Amino acid sequence: MKRTLVTAALPYANGPVHIGHLAGAYLPSDIYVRFMRAIESDVKFICGSDEHGVPITLRARKEGITPQQVVDKYHGIIKKSFEDFGISFDIYHRTSSPVHHQTASVFFSTLYDKKIFTEETTEQYYDEEAKTFLADRYITGTCPNCSNPNAYGDQCEKCGKSLSPSELINPHSQLSGKKPILRQTKHWYLPLDRFQKEWLEEWIKSHEKDWKNNAYGQCKSWLDQGLQPRAVTRDLDWGVPVPLKEAEGKVLYVWFDAPIGYISATKALFENTSNPEGWEPYWKDKDTRLLHFIGKDNIVFHCIIFPAMLKAHGEFILPENIPANEFLNLEGEKISTSRNWAVWLNEYLEEFPGKQDVLRYTLCATAPENKDNDFTWKDFQARNNNELVAVLGNFVNRTLVLTQKYFEGKVPSASSLTNEDQACLELIKESPKRIEENILKFRFRDALFELMNLARAGNKYLADQEPWKIHATNPERVATILSVSLEITAALAYLMEPFLPFTAKKLLKMLNISSKSWKELIDKPLLTKGHQLAEASLLFEKIEDAEIQKQIDKLAVSKAENEARNNGPAPAKDSTSFDDFQKMDIRVGTIITAERVPKTDKLLKLVIDTGLDKRTVVSGIAADYKPENIIGQQVSILINLEPRKIKGIESQGMILMAENAKGELAFVAPTKSIENGGTIR
Ligand code: MF3
Ligand code: ZN
Repeated sequence: MKRTLVTAALPYANGPVHIGHLAGAYLPSDIYVRFMRAIESDVKFICGSDEHGVPITLRARKEGITPQQVVDKYHGIIKKSFEDFGISFDIYHRTSSPVHHQTASVFFSTLYDKKIFTEETTEQYYDEEAKTFLADRYITGTCPNCSNPNAYGDQCEKCGKSLSPSELINPHSQLSGKKPILRQTKHWYLPLDRFQKEWLEEWIKSHEKDWKNNAYGQCKSWLDQGLQPRAVTRDLDWGVPVPLKEAEGKVLYVWFDAPIGYISATKALFENTSNPEGWEPYWKDKDTRLLHFIGKDNIVFHCIIFPAMLKAHGEFILPENIPANEFLNLEGEKISTSRNWAVWLNEYLEEFPGKQDVLRYTLCATAPENKDNDFTWKDFQARNNNELVAVLGNFVNRTLVLTQKYFEGKVPSASSLTNEDQACLELIKESPKRIEENILKFRFRDALFELMNLARAGNKYLADQEPWKIHATNPERVATILSVSLEITAALAYLMEPFLPFTAKKLLKMLNISSKSWKELIDKPLLTKGHQLAEASLLFEKIEDAEIQKQIDKLAVSKAENEARNNGPAPAKDSTSFDDFQKMDIRVGTIITAERVPKTDKLLKLVIDTGLDKRTVVSGIAADYKPENIIGQQVSILINLEPRKIKGIESQGMILMAENAKGELAFVAPTKSIENGGTIR
C-alpha cells in the first residue's frame, strides 16, 4: 500500500452538521486517517462543502437571501465546527470555488467529447407562474410507494424510495404551490445501463467480500433491477453551468458535480505548494487506495454513479472501499433537520466546552456500523461517568498521583516481574495490533473497545496490586507496580490519539513526552527510568444530571414546537362521562409559599391554602414562574387526586395549568377574586 486517499461525504452547506453526520462519515474517517498518520502511512484526508443543489436554493428562498449567502454562512459554520471537534481534514474545500467549477466543467466536457453521454429530450414539469422547470425537490407530491403526501421529486423521505418527478401522484410546485404543466427539455445522460453490461456489474461483484453488507446489498438490488440512463444536467440557475452552447440556463446535476469536488479539493490542497501536480498520484496511481466514507443514503452515488463517471473519464482510479454507516437515531427517533430533532455540533461545542472527546467517544462506541443505532443523552452521561471517568481517567490519575507522591514524579524502575506484571506488558504490545486490525477493517467500535480494554486491565491491575498498602513495607515492589502502570499509561496516550485526540494531547503533556509512531510501540519500553513527569490533572470530569436534563428539555422544546407547527392543537380525547367528570374535586386556592425543589430545573414546592386546609403540592412550573413572583396567586387545584411522592416530597393535589404548543404554562384562575375553597365545575 503506497498511499491512501480518504474522502468524507461533502456536507450540504444548507445547515450545520449534527451527530448523525459525525457518526456516519466524519468521525470514522477521522479515526482512520489519524491512525494512518500514526503508522506513518502516506494519507490525505479530503472534504468540503457541497454548495449546489436544490436544498440550498430552497433554503435561500426560505431565509430570503441568495444561495451564495446561504453557502457562505453555513460553509463557515461547518468548517469551524469540524475544526473545533478535531476532524483533521488536510483540506476542507468548497464546490462554489473557481477550481471546482473549472474541474467539474472540464470533467463534463471530457465525457462529452468522448461521446459518453446520451442526449434525450423529454417532458418535464414546468411551473408557468415561476417560469421555471421543477427539478428534484422543487416538486412534491404523493409517494406512489407509501402514500406519503410530502414526497420529493427525487426521493420519498418517509419510505426512502428514490423517485423521479413523473412518478409522483398529484404533483405540485414548491415555488407557486400550483399544479405544474409538462414541457419539453433536453438533457445529457450517463448510460449506466450500458456500463452495467460492460464492466460495472462485474466490478461490483468482485467486491462482494470486502465491501460492507449495506454497500454491496444496495448495489446488488440496483443491479438486479437493471440500471437506467441517468440525467446529469438540470434546468436550474444555481450550480456549475453545463459547458455547451446549446445548454444555456442548465447546470450540472449536483450529484454529478459534488463528487468531482473530492478531486478539485485534492487539487486545491497542492495548488500553492512547490508541487502543484502532487494531487495526481492520489487519483491516478494504481497503488493508491481510494476510500469514501459516507452514510448509507449516499451509497448508490459512491458505489455506482461516481465510479461510472471516473471510469468513463478514463484517467482515474476507482474506489477500493466505501465504508458506509447506517443511521444514528436520537432518543429513539430519526434525526431530522426540518423537525430540529438533532444534536447540532456547533451547539454541542458551545454547551460542552472542552468535551469534544466525550462526544467522540460516545459516537464511536455506539457507531451505527452494521445497523441503525440510538444516541441518548443518558447513555452519553453513562459513558462519560462510568467509562471515561471511572475507568480510563481513574486509572491514569491514580498512576500519576502515586508516582508524584512516592517518587517525586520520576519514572521508577522495575525489578523482578510477576505474572500479572508480565501480562500487562504483553497486553501493551498486543493492543496496537488489535486496534490496527480492527481499524483496517473499518470496525471502529471494536478498535475502541480494545483501547478501553487496556485501560480496564490497568485499572484492575492497580486495584489488585494496591501499591498504597505496601508502600511502607515493600517500596521496591511499589516501584515495579508503578513502572508497569506508567507503561500502560504511556501506551494509552499514544493509542488513544485517533479516538480521543484532545485527551491524548493532555496526557502526553502530563507524561512529558511527545507523540511517536506506533511502529515504535512494540519493542522498547515507552518511558525511561528517571524520566520526569509533568503535573497531573484530571482527564475527564463527571457530568451531572442537571446538564443532561437541560439537553433532554431542549429536545422536548423542539418536539413541542414541531408538533405545534405540524398539527396545531392536540386532537380531542375520547369522550368521558359526566359522572367521571363530577368525581374530580377542583377548588380555588391561593399560593402561600413557593420554593424551588433542589437539584431539579422544573419543580416548585408550593403550599396552597385551599380554604379547607393548607397543603403541599409539587408542580412542574419552575421554567415559567419564579417562586417570589407567585405568592398570593390564585389557582385551580384538584384536591382529591391521590397523593404522590415527587423527589421525596408528598404532593397532595395538582394545580391546573394552561399550556401552549411550546410548552409555556399559565395559571388557570378565576377572573375575579373567589374565596379559597370555591368550587370549579
Ligand atoms: N451533500 C451530500 C449529502 O449530504 C453528500 C455529497 S457527497 C459527494 O448527502 F460525493 F457528492 F460529494
Ligand atoms: Zn414513500
